[in-house]
Parts: sequence; structure tokens; C-alpha cells
Amino acid sequence: MIMKNKHHRFPHDFLWGAATSSHQVEGGNKNNWTAWENQGHVRDEQVSGKAANYWNLYEKDFDRLQELNLNAYRFSIEWSRIEPAPDQFDDEAIGRYRDMLRSLKERNITPNLTLHHFTDPQWLGEWTDPATVDRFIRYTQVVVEELGEYVTYWCTINEPNILATLTYVKGWWPPGKKSRLSAYRALRNFHKAHNRAYKLIHETYQKRGWGTPKVSMAFNLQYYEAKGSNPLNTLMAAVANYFANHYTIGRVRKRLDYIGVNFYFSHKIGVLSSDNAFKEQETSELPKSDLQWDVYPIGLYYTLKLLKRYNLPILVTENGIADAQDRLRPWHITESVRAVSRGREEGLNVIGYIHWSLLDNFEWQEGYHGRFGLYEVDFETQKRTKRPSADVLAGFAEKNAWFKPEKVDYPR
Ligand code: BGC
Repeated sequence: MIMKNKHHRFPHDFLWGAATSSHQVEGGNKNNWTAWENQGHVRDEQVSGKAANYWNLYEKDFDRLQELNLNAYRFSIEWSRIEPAPDQFDDEAIGRYRDMLRSLKERNITPNLTLHHFTDPQWLGEWTDPATVDRFIRYTQVVVEELGEYVTYWCTINEPNILATLTYVKGWWPPGKKSRLSAYRALRNFHKAHNRAYKLIHETYQKRGWGTPKVSMAFNLQYYEAKGSNPLNTLMAAVANYFANHYTIGRVRKRLDYIGVNFYFSHKIGVLSSDNAFKEQETSELPKSDLQWDVYPIGLYYTLKLLKRYNLPILVTENGIADAQDRLRPWHITESVRAVSRGREEGLNVIGYIHWSLLDNFEWQEGYHGRFGLYEVDFETQKRTKRPSADVLAGFAEKNAWFKPEKVDYPR
């Protein structure tokens, strides 16, 4: 039953989407991650291998977007395919991505194109080196000239803070060094790369008469909530929210047409209280995903609220859960869309919700253990099977509204 409350409706041009990234689904890549996988750094020594063989099966996967009533799709292009050797650009690979964009256009699906989603060509130096920024800009220039006419929404770089941290602080991702100074340098170069790419994309569109592009990064934002009402804890949460969220946005603030939000994490923070219960949670125990991450969908609402000060359109570019059995995902989607709806009711200009992910895929250091797909993928046969939660999202997209679906179980 649909609640007849006009505030739960979304605007007619609201973007309902799903996302993937090149290395996680395409298969057959040769980049810095494949080298890392071959050295046995991934859980159970797994390798991405053929992944979801999306490089060959994408047409059928685009049919799936339509099956779910989605009008937006976020995906990334693989630098190592476009430029397999320095300054050698591969027309066939560019052509394949062009075909993807044309095929989306035929389906009236708005693409959101990411230039860099965690992977680098093997020949590229490290992001700590300023020369890498020049290389990225050269690659961006080719991509924008070749594919720009099909794209309005761009994400330059996916989650620079996560990439810098997992690479240079944790050492889990290639090249797996542990150096905070390197993390800081890489982060600074990601910001520079974004700012230059932003300018380049806008200039190219103007020169070519392609209208106005909309460019952002996909920021990994995390919500910090204070334990109890102790002012010290409130201060700690504010400081944490600054570093986790506002710091990166601030570095590129003048070069953003919208704010791309990837949301997965909420945290309780403070010293002087044992209160671990989140604001809207009756117990201190939050449900856990298959990767043992806390699941607190309303945290998305609080995170969106942090963005009010920027006065920019906001697009949820990722939000999802590792849940092979689809135990929690129907509820997670329902409450996440509700969080967006609630933000909109309070005046936040959220222009879309893009779910991570369309397909099960290669989950970085977790290999094939984290299953985020609206469609389950059998990696032996490449068979896709729709999970029940996909229909929950499809229902919201179809009605262009939030409502309480009949069949969704809430965790107790
Ligand atoms: C990344 C994805 C990843 C997802 C789930 C995001 O931070 O952009 O590549 O699969 O989180 O971990």
C-alpha cells in the first residue's frame, strides 16, 4: 500500500540508479590490481580473473537496469584499457565504452561516468608523484574528447580518502606501503587532479558546444555520532566529522557542480560514556553485514544533513550492503531511500539515489566474499539471478516515491 503523502514523492527527474566499477566487473583487466592479486594479497588468494565478464555481457546487464525501472547508471572506465602504454590510446577500448554509452542513451538511462575507480595502469608511477597528476589529465583529456558528447554527470576520482588510507596507511592495497606522509601526498595529488580535470571537462564542453557538464568526486562520507550528551564527546564527533567529511570536500569545494556521496559507515565516538546506542536504534547492537560492517541506514540522512552548508545538489553515488542471502538488503534499501526522502523533505536538494551494486563483483581485498549485488552472480557460469531486494528498489523507482513496502522484514 502506498502512503498518500505528497512529501514522500520524488521530483520527476530524480535519478534512480545502480553502480559498478570497471575492475570489479569487467574481467580480463591488466592493471596494478591484477599484479597485486597475482602476488597473493587478496583474501583466500583470489584473483579478479573474469570477474562478472561484463566487458562482454554489458548489454544484458543494461537490460537489467531497465527491468528494475532505473533511469541512471554509474560506471567507470578503465584507464589501463584506454591507455595500455604511456601515450598509446586504444581505439577499440574507447569504442567499446562509446558503445556502452550509446546503448544507455537508447534506453534513456543517464550515465554517471567515473574516470578513476581505484585502479591504475601498471606503467603509471605512484600518486605521491606530481607527474601522475599530469598523466591523469592527459588521459582525462582523451576520454572527454572521445566520450564527452554522451555524458553529463562525471565523477573524477572515486573515494580518494579511502584509496590513500588503504594504500598508504593500512598497506592493504597496491603498492601496499605504510607511510602517512605518502598518504597525505597522494591525497593532495588526488585533489589537484580533480581540480584540473574539472576545469578541463568544463572547457572542453564549452569548446564543443556540449552544454554544461556536472562534475564531482565520489566522496566516501562517514557519519560520526557522539556517545551520550557529554560536550567533550560532542566536540570529538564534530572533529571526526570534519576530518572524515568536510576536509576533502573543502579542498575541491570551488570545483564541484554537485556532491557525490558514497555512504556505508556510521560510528559512535566519545570517551566519557558507555552509551553505544545510535540515535534511532533501541539497542546498542546494530545489524551486521556479511563483512561484519555495522548497518545503520538512517546514518545516510544525518550524513546528507552535514552537506547543507555547501548549498549544492547532492547525488548518492553509492550505498549498499554485503549480503549474499539478502537478509538485510530489502530493509536497508527501504530505510536508505527513506533517509533520502526525509532529507529532501527538510530541504536538501538530493537529486538521485544510486545503489551499490548492480551485480555481485570483485570486492578488492575481500575478493569474491562481499556480495553487494542486486543481482547475484555465479562466477563459474556468469549466470545472474535477481535478488528480492532488487524488486524493492524497482518499486520505489517505479512509483518515484518512498512508501513502506508490504513484504520487507525489519531486523529486531
Ligand atoms: C567502493 C566500491 C566498493 C564498495 C563496497 C566503495 O567504497 O567505491 O568499489 O566495492 O565500497 O566496499
